[in-house]
Amino acid sequence: MGPVQLIKRKIRSGLIRMSELPVLNKDIPSLAELHQAQLQKMQDDLELENPIQSLPKLACHYETIFIRDDGSILPCCNTWPEDRLVIGNIKDDNILAKLRDFDQQCNICGTCQLRKANQEDNINFRHIIVETSKYCNVNCAMCGHFSPYHTRTGQYNKEDLSYYYDRFLDLCPPKILSVLGGETLVQEHGLKWFTGVKKKYNDTYVELVTSGNVKPEVADAIDGCFDSILISFYGFQAETYRKVTNLPIDRVFEFSDILINQAREKVHLKYLTTPINFHESAIFLDWAMKNKPGWVVSHDCNTPYFLTMDLDEPYRICDSYPTHNKIPNNYWKEILHRTVRDIIKTLKENKEILEEGKTRVAYADFLFKWGGLTQELVDSHQLQNVTISKGTGC
Ligand SMILES: C[S@@+](CC[C@H](N)C(=O)[O-])C[C@H]1O[C@@H](n2cnc3c(N)ncnc32)[C@H](O)[C@@H]1O
Ligand code: SF4
Ligand code: SF4
Repeated sequence: MGPVQLIKRKIRSGLIRMSELPVLNKDIPSLAELHQAQLQKMQDDLELENPIQSLPKLACHYETIFIRDDGSILPCCNTWPEDRLVIGNIKDDNILAKLRDFDQQCNICGTCQLRKANQEDNINFRHIIVETSKYCNVNCAMCGHFSPYHTRTGQYNKEDLSYYYDRFLDLCPPKILSVLGGETLVQEHGLKWFTGVKKKYNDTYVELVTSGNVKPEVADAIDGCFDSILISFYGFQAETYRKVTNLPIDRVFEFSDILINQAREKVHLKYLTTPINFHESAIFLDWAMKNKPGWVVSHDCNTPYFLTMDLDEPYRICDSYPTHNKIPNNYWKEILHRTVRDIIKTLKENKEILEEGKTRVAYADFLFKWGGLTQELVDSHQLQNVTISKGTGC
């Protein structure tokens, strides 16, 4: 019996699995690389399991807060869905006392741990994030803020909280104010407040996050009202965008064009990768870079989770398959590798724009690391102003 027949026989008898075979396609990690990645993951998990002793203790809520659509205040943007971490409400007259007395445990971010403020601490907000209302005109399949659900049931906040926002900002103005929806630009109260906020808090850096899927006239209404505007794309080809959001993409292109002509450097174009759009990343990147915004960024909506992919197991085999159909299950890895190849090609083709230094590119590695995208790879192509950061970016 030859070696190939012997291996086939061992696979059939369960003595050896396909995942243990040497890999011929050099684009797919070798077993040694997979083991290394697994070891690294175990080490990371261990560190996460034991964070209390090693992480710095901070009064996070004296530096950043997230204000939900109903006015409840939480310590930072990582904590917004956690009811147990609600400090108080923006309407509370004694909100400063509630901030002072707030005493809960948290280490959701994995980089620090929350502690109660002490007498030496002073409230000095670096960043306040306001969710003006959950109302949104778009209906994204993956919406992390649950806006489409609130719209359907009519349970989104219609109350104008702007009096309370101003009262709070007067008490403790932040360095950075981020305004999110739902979609602030289609909310009557949200838009009205947003257009006045920069005039009122001139020293605060005001940033807006928007889908940009609004009437072009809105671009004129917000001219001069922000220091930075992040426009989120949920697909690049019309049909893909429509599948994710239930709306056509044309208005987003029109809106982005107007804003880029108004204030190119203040506009940032973001691509949120989802299972059905990530393969269009490079064509988005090419279009976005040629528009020369301040930043082109790519974040991920937890695509592996949505696909329930087991990326540690590129040769997973369905047991119910007949033996002769035991084909390698590397479909997503191949698509990811091809996408990363195209991203690098696009970055190289737009090298002059990167070297000019006015447009920078940032990719979160959460999804594309499985296709081989790393800072080392980018650096090996001598690409300036491109950052690959860890995590989803969100
Ligand atoms: C909820 S949206 C609100 C602003 C605006 N409607 C928009 O879509 O840009 C705020 C940010 O959350 C991001 N986001 C939405 N759903 C997400 C998800 N499931 N995972 C990660 N980020 C998500 C969007 O890309 C956007 O940058
Ligand atoms: S510990 Fe991390 S997640 Fe928790 S409040 Fe502080 S910064 Fe936010
Ligand atoms: S546009 Fe933004 S808020 Fe609206 S559904 Fe999509 S992600 Fe959610």
